[in-house]
Amino acid sequence: MKKSFAWRPQLMRDTVMSKSRSRPALRRPTWIIALVSFICVFLILAYFYSPKNSASCNLFSSSGCLFGRTPPSPARELTDDETASEVVVREILKTPPLQSKNPKIAFMFLTPGTLPFEELWENFFQGHEDKFTVYVHASKEKPVHASRYFADRDIHSEQVVWGKFSMVEAEKRLLANALLDPDNQHFVLLSDSCIPLHNFDYVYNYLMYTNVSFIDCFVDPGPHGTGRYSKHMLPEVDRSNFRKGSQWFSIKRQHAIVMMADCLYYTKFKLFCRPNLDGRNCYSDEHYLPTFFNLKDPGGLANWSVTYVDWSEGKWHPRAFRTQDVTYDLLRNITSIAESTHITSEDKKRILNTPCLWNGMKRPCYLFARKFYPETLGKLVQLFSNYTKGFVAPLTDPWWHHLP
Ligand SMILES: *[C@@H]1O[C@H](CO)[C@@H](O)[C@H](O)[C@H]1NC(C)=O
Ligand SMILES: *[C@@H]1O[C@H](CO)[C@@H](O)[C@H](O)[C@H]1NC(C)=O
Ligand SMILES: *[C@@H]1O[C@H](CO)[C@@H](O)[C@H](O)[C@H]1NC(C)=O
Ligand SMILES: *[C@@H]1O[C@H](CO)[C@@H](O)[C@H](O)[C@H]1NC(C)=O
Repeated sequence: MKKSFAWRPQLMRDTVMSKSRSRPALRRPTWIIALVSFICVFLILAYFYSPKNSASCNLFSSSGCLFGRTPPSPARELTDDETASEVVVREILKTPPLQSKNPKIAFMFLTPGTLPFEELWENFFQGHEDKFTVYVHASKEKPVHASRYFADRDIHSEQVVWGKFSMVEAEKRLLANALLDPDNQHFVLLSDSCIPLHNFDYVYNYLMYTNVSFIDCFVDPGPHGTGRYSKHMLPEVDRSNFRKGSQWFSIKRQHAIVMMADCLYYTKFKLFCRPNLDGRNCYSDEHYLPTFFNLKDPGGLANWSVTYVDWSEGKWHPRAFRTQDVTYDLLRNITSIAESTHITSEDKKRILNTPCLWNGMKRPCYLFARKFYPETLGKLVQLFSNYTKGFVAPLTDPWWHHLP
């Protein structure tokens, strides 16, 4: 079809010529026909086999030899490392999680030293000894433990500098240690200033009976979001792939293993998302996991964190609560929030509110909250059984019972 279009003018010229010229002159048009058709065949082959870039497309549409249809913009060819990564991640996500007789939640504390709220956490854990494990990564000094649930739960730790990649390394270290226990099915990252907002059963069922990971993830087109992106991350991470989110994740076992398997994106962020690179400050702990999981398994993310934090003051650090702030009303208010909030960092800030859907049902978003000053401990312990009362634990079968 394409070919016959190209041939027609030549054939017509051929017939005209054959009338006006003698036999030997005919040889030249035939030769031209052969040449032109050769060029067309060459162009067709070039189209299908050329490296997919816009130059070859332009060459095409301007060569009168071919059809008017513009070719679809072709997908980028994956690098070898990307293909390998794709295969490994896809296999892990396809493998149903290990069936544990005694599924537990790993509570992983990232702290400089002693945890001020161990007594509060003890109230939370009490009576559920077979359903959780605690891990503590103390990056500055050896903690003094006030609760039996925290004693001897320190893992090997390294120094962590705020905003540097050592933060992500510590998160990965905690996950690796927690993954050693095959009973751990869900992995929660917490800080020394975090408190529980619900009773243990509520938290356990909320995390265990859903098939998503609670990784905070949104697009912030402003300077504190995509403005931190560096072109050095190409080709694996395009600007349009760059995401932001709070570091305080809660992830299912499959995703924890996917994170262990990732070297490619991990290294990209380690090298090119750090403070003071090309005049920009990038913080890997706020970008690596949201960007990586949004690329690899967007449907497996809730896109909000189950750890509440108050950014409404618009300062560099979130609001930290003092003793006089801690009241029954405050805690009930936080536990009742059913929409997650993201604030972008453009000149004209935008507030994005999204309902929190747990297995498709609107539910309170938060299980934990930060930041609380150590001085609030007494008040929190006193209020704990009060503010966690009355919430009915979401009860369903474990999600893996519904696998096809
Ligand atoms: C999670 O479960 C829901 C409902 O059972 C299903 O529609 C969804 O595809 C599942 N998501 C993943 C990531 O498995
Ligand atoms: C989270 O965001 C991704 C991509 O933006 C989307 O595909 C996914 O459905 C979202 N998850 C939920 C639970 O809405
Ligand atoms: C709790 O929420 C109510 C209703 O939104 C508000 O009027 C009140 O000030 C809040 N209280 C605290 C302590 O945040
Ligand atoms: C919790 O304490 C507040 C006041 O401190 C009180 O009004 C409320 O009734 C208590 N709630 C429960 C469930 O005990």
